[in-house]
Amino acid sequence: MSLIRTTAILILLTLTFSQTAMAKENVIKFSHITTEKTPKGKAANYFKELVEQRLKGKVRVEIFPNSQLYNDKEVLKALLLGDVQMAAPSLSKFGKYTKKWGIFDLPFLFKDASSVECFTNSPQGQALLGAAEDKGIKGLAYWLNGMKQLSANKPLLVPDDAAGEKFRIMSSDVLEAQFKTVKANPQKMSFSEVYNALSTGVIDGQENTWSNIRTKKFYEVQSDFTESNHGVLEYVLITSTEFWDSLPKDIQKELSAIIKEVTAKETRWALEAAEEDKQFIIASGRTKVHTLTNQQLELWAEVMKPVWKKFEVDIGKENIDAALKCNN
Ligand code: SIN
Repeated sequence: MSLIRTTAILILLTLTFSQTAMAKENVIKFSHITTEKTPKGKAANYFKELVEQRLKGKVRVEIFPNSQLYNDKEVLKALLLGDVQMAAPSLSKFGKYTKKWGIFDLPFLFKDASSVECFTNSPQGQALLGAAEDKGIKGLAYWLNGMKQLSANKPLLVPDDAAGEKFRIMSSDVLEAQFKTVKANPQKMSFSEVYNALSTGVIDGQENTWSNIRTKKFYEVQSDFTESNHGVLEYVLITSTEFWDSLPKDIQKELSAIIKEVTAKETRWALEAAEEDKQFIIASGRTKVHTLTNQQLELWAEVMKPVWKKFEVDIGKENIDAALKCNN
């Protein structure tokens, strides 16, 4: 009798346990800071769509765009605390976690977006994706935004034009050094504060991509833009190693496949946005867009070049060399 009772209890416990396990739905809160119309915003939404098609009942994705939940500084802490599970911050914002990603901020290192893509797909670029793993941050993929442009309330045609101007920068020591080479005053500031700071004159200028300049309306509060393409805004899609390791292998595999598919689309959206948003800004008539001569461009590149040497040890010369190879 007691054996029958024990067996019955064991069966009941097994059933209850497996039902609980079956019912477990993993929730991915994905926080980001741009609008849903940007390449990153569209890619985050597409990721949600594919996950909900292919992992229904196993994984649910909640997207929080436009700094609704956290800005980029807060999101990294939130990710490590398990309050969100995914984000895609600019690689410029990880100085506290790894110095290696500073490579993406070196001025005039990448000729254009396709050089960036070549580097991120190279063995060195792929190895760099794991640079913050010892801090609990897992790089899942690189997402492109595009090449950055300069702006102020005066034409910036040669480096001397930037001297004394206050520029908003992302929280990167490399970007700080970049603006110091032209005797400007760089100020680290959250993305969500830039529009107000520009319109109230707290800062004089900024650097960003055509997509962010359009969607955040910076072109309405800056009289002059320079098509400098002097740097890149590249993202890293991240999760915490703790969250990733907690997922069953089959879910990890499906998520990785989805991310690959989303990344390919994201790149296409970014390339399209770079051109479309530039044309939109020019056509708006709200600001002037200056094109530099080759001579002017070379001057900017020459003045900013010492930044490479300053960060070479942190970044690794072999990584810089691999990036340069992609310009050929
Ligand atoms: C972003 O595109 O995520 C924002 C970049 C910035 O802070 O300028």
